[in-house]
Amino acid sequence: MLPQALSRLVLPLVVALIASGCGPESRVDLWRFVSSGRDGYQQPEKVIDALDLKPGARVAEIGAGDGYWIPWLSEAVGPGGRVYAVEVEQDKVDALNDLVREEGYSNVDVVLGKYEDPELPDQSVDVAMTSMTYHHIEDRVTYFRRLQTDLAPGGRVAHLDNRSGLPFPISIFTSGHSSETEEVDEEMTAAGYTRVDSLDFLYSQIFLTYAPSHAEGSD
Ligand SMILES: C[S@@+](CC[C@H](N)C(=O)[O-])C[C@H]1O[C@@H](n2cnc3c(N)ncnc32)[C@H](O)[C@@H]1O
Repeated sequence: MLPQALSRLVLPLVVALIASGCGPESRVDLWRFVSSGRDGYQQPEKVIDALDLKPGARVAEIGAGDGYWIPWLSEAVGPGGRVYAVEVEQDKVDALNDLVREEGYSNVDVVLGKYEDPELPDQSVDVAMTSMTYHHIEDRVTYFRRLQTDLAPGGRVAHLDNRSGLPFPISIFTSGHSSETEEVDEEMTAAGYTRVDSLDFLYSQIFLTYAPSHAEGSD
């Protein structure tokens, strides 16, 4: 009884304390973050819009986890498109296959990838995305350099990851599980990409898109 009452009191107080140092827009974002769960802080509709997936497009999510993005990606590319949900952990692959079968996502393939290779067919994807997975990948320069062979002409890579330097108490959840824009830029440049965009509408996450540098001006 007491802990529940305390948490009801403490959470708004902590939010108010942090919010006192924020501008009005950040306050709204912060409130969204603490109050409305994954869809609240992730804003999947806006992310999907920004990914600009056309019906019929082929998209890979590297590190699909529990499949949060599958319904969104599946709907965005439509029946003529393809979603590759890549995972390296066999139990997650099994659970993703169950999800895909039970929910009838006929345009989704679950792929058991390797830690150093998503095991996608050459030139098979228009967009490869990671969501809170970038920081898990070990040799990222080699990984994303190799991934260029999996991208179709005009293909892009998008990374969503927790921002580093978020205020306490959010940092409790994101510490050690985040990326910095400068670091991602540096690594993706070394892997042969040029940044196309940096989207700032998510309070707690960076959202960066890249294209292979050799494709610049050649489309
Ligand atoms: C924090 S979860 C994110 C799950 C999902 N992307 C989301 O946004 O809900 C990170 C996932 O990446 C997977 N992973 C880690 N290293 C990977 C790699 N090299 N290739 C593919 N997946 C990887 C993990 O098994 C885990 O399921």
